[in-house]
Amino acid sequence: MLPEKSFAGQVAVVTGGGTGLGYGIAEKLGRLGARVALVSRNPEHVNPAADKLQALGIEALPVPTDIRQPDQVEAMGAKVLEHFGRMDMLVNSAAGNFIVDSEKLSVNGFNAVVASVLHGTFYCTRIAGLHFIESGHGGRIVNIVASYAWTGGPKTLHSAVAKAGVVAMTRTLGMEWAPYGIRVNCISPGPTDTDGARQALWPDEESSARLRAQIPVGRFGTVDEVSDAACYLLSPYADFITGEVLVIDGGQWLGGGSLR
Ligand code: HXC
Repeated sequence: MLPEKSFAGQVAVVTGGGTGLGYGIAEKLGRLGARVALVSRNPEHVNPAADKLQALGIEALPVPTDIRQPDQVEAMGAKVLEHFGRMDMLVNSAAGNFIVDSEKLSVNGFNAVVASVLHGTFYCTRIAGLHFIESGHGGRIVNIVASYAWTGGPKTLHSAVAKAGVVAMTRTLGMEWAPYGIRVNCISPGPTDTDGARQALWPDEESSARLRAQIPVGRFGTVDEVSDAACYLLSPYADFITGEVLVIDGGQWLGGGSLR
């Protein structure tokens, strides 16, 4: 358990922060004292999420942004700096995905997912990294990936390719930006009990049981467990960890479990 107010005075930007894991991480960072900017394409996601955080006493700024558009990402960075005056942490949680046979994946479908997962992560990382370097205070980045980035992911080729790129980006920047006091890491959640995952991956009891049987620990992960791991990597407890991937999946990928 991190000490209360571990992130006091610090500012976190969380993409995909309006829903699911992104929201969970934003709330936990806020409970630990951070001020948070919630970034999502959809104002209907980030506006109520920011209201919810404010009601908990957490200072939150909703910034509707399509992370696939570099000019919108630049504007988001400028807005965060104008509002909060600084930026210390970035969590790249925004993603797009769907299950499809690779031979039926269209060029547009491939491009849409790679543009948000890989290009969007780069655009956000770039503006955060520039600020971390120019300010002289460094910073920390956590990217959300999936184990099919290294095992391969039948029926999620688009996402697997993009997440593999994010892992390579993480390792590259973990080395290259270390002298600036910037740490870059990934968390790789397995099936985690969110509304989105439930609808996409286990809409009924039969598919739920089949998926749980692939997880040695025998259950789905919780948003709390994944958020705790993200906060750990963003905290001083992890000051000697960079370019790393922390898997939080109840042993699923070791057992060969995936969407296959
Ligand atoms: C097949 C699909 C599709 C689907 C989109 N496409 N959804 N193809 N099955 N379910 C194809 C379209 O046909 C189109 O190609 C192209 O992708 C672009 O579609 P658009 O409707 O224009 O969507 P767009 O908004 O540009 O981008 C698609 C997206 C988006 C990136 C997937 O829906 C998105 O951002 N979703 C965010 C929410 C999300 O996906 N969350 C999952 C996060 S991971 P054509 O050729 O027809 O023009 C998660 C864990 C579970 O929750 C993961 C399960 C795998």
